[in-house]
Amino acid sequence: MAGIGKSLRPDFPILEQKIGRNSLVYLDNAATSQKPRVVIESLANFYQIANSNVHRSVHTLAERATDLYERAREKVAEFIGAEHPSEIIFVRNTTEAINLVAYAFARSRLAPGDEIVVTVLNHHSNLVPWQQAAAQSDAKVRAIPLTRDLQLDMRTAASIIGPRTKIVAITHKSNVTGTIVDVAALSRMARQVGAAVVIDAAQSVPHLPVDVHQLDCDFLAFSGHKMLGPMGIGVLYGRRELLEQMPPFMTGGEMVLEVELETATWNDIPLKFEAGTPNVAGAVALATAIDYLSAVGMQTIAEHEKVLADAAWKRLEKIEGIQCVKPSLGSNGIVSFSMTDIHPHDVATILDSEGVAVRAGHHCAQPLHKVLGVPATVRASFYLYNDHDDVDRLVDALRTARQFFHKRGRSREVPL
Ligand code: ALA
Repeated sequence: MAGIGKSLRPDFPILEQKIGRNSLVYLDNAATSQKPRVVIESLANFYQIANSNVHRSVHTLAERATDLYERAREKVAEFIGAEHPSEIIFVRNTTEAINLVAYAFARSRLAPGDEIVVTVLNHHSNLVPWQQAAAQSDAKVRAIPLTRDLQLDMRTAASIIGPRTKIVAITHKSNVTGTIVDVAALSRMARQVGAAVVIDAAQSVPHLPVDVHQLDCDFLAFSGHKMLGPMGIGVLYGRRELLEQMPPFMTGGEMVLEVELETATWNDIPLKFEAGTPNVAGAVALATAIDYLSAVGMQTIAEHEKVLADAAWKRLEKIEGIQCVKPSLGSNGIVSFSMTDIHPHDVATILDSEGVAVRAGHHCAQPLHKVLGVPATVRASFYLYNDHDDVDRLVDALRTARQFFHKRGRSREVPL
């Protein structure tokens, strides 16, 4: 199982490079993933053989581009178990997808006193749009807390989700703790009170099998760049009847049927939500990324990352001064921690000098870090091309960081 990393690594040209004298160990996959050669070629290929605008002209290139774009939509729909390709809206990223729902779905449905339920695990992109929507409507944001072992507190969730709840906006997998939320259980609670369920799947769709029907969600958002695809292409899945009822988010070209000087009518879904020229090459390359992931197998990827993270935890727990942010039910490929007396950014800088790329900071999850009692963490996040050598390099680099700061007797007064 742990063998896939070694065999896949040659497919990723960027991983061949050195950072200073060291070969690159890329462990910042929760921020963005690297791209296999086939995806890079797919992007270039689109511009070499098919570049044209979509859904507009009738010439050969235009039809080729439109066909590739719509086939990409079908591929995405199949990948997440959507009933119909028209339920797939191409956007820039997860943030745009959630904003689309907050503006076009939520704002017109919220009334004073209504509640939007979020979780303390939520990324800022699945929090701030709801704060804004609530503020506009005199509605309220309520958060499901965590248990001590970093799971979502489902008992409290059951008491928070009630008759006033209109939206339940949750993260599927935390970008900091790796906690996987029981979305289906929350959806059941939401259904009982007639609330809509919005899922931030930015960290789940790239790493494990996801099926929108099993999750029973109304909306699901994710980004192409975290799943081997290019930056600037993302996906919003929405249940067809809801998308059909919703007004557009942005207006302009391509999303209209008839335009008079003073009025306009809207195109059918999904085009109603794709104003302007879309990122066609991005969508086409995302489809190539999906083929690549599917050939490896999403379950295989999930298990591979879990093996690596578990191996990393075993070793990290033995390093003096490391405080692990480790959920009892597993961290699913994400390893976040802090080190006594060494600021996370200093840890990340030393790691970088050893060729190991991690992220340090609050990872756009400040409310979660408040609950954890630390302002920031260091995060190593694994993906399909990582292997046990990368775990070794991470551990060695952390030992180097420890020695470096101890030798210098340096202690920054950072509350870790
Ligand atoms: N949301 C991304 C991360 O967790 C950028 O790093």
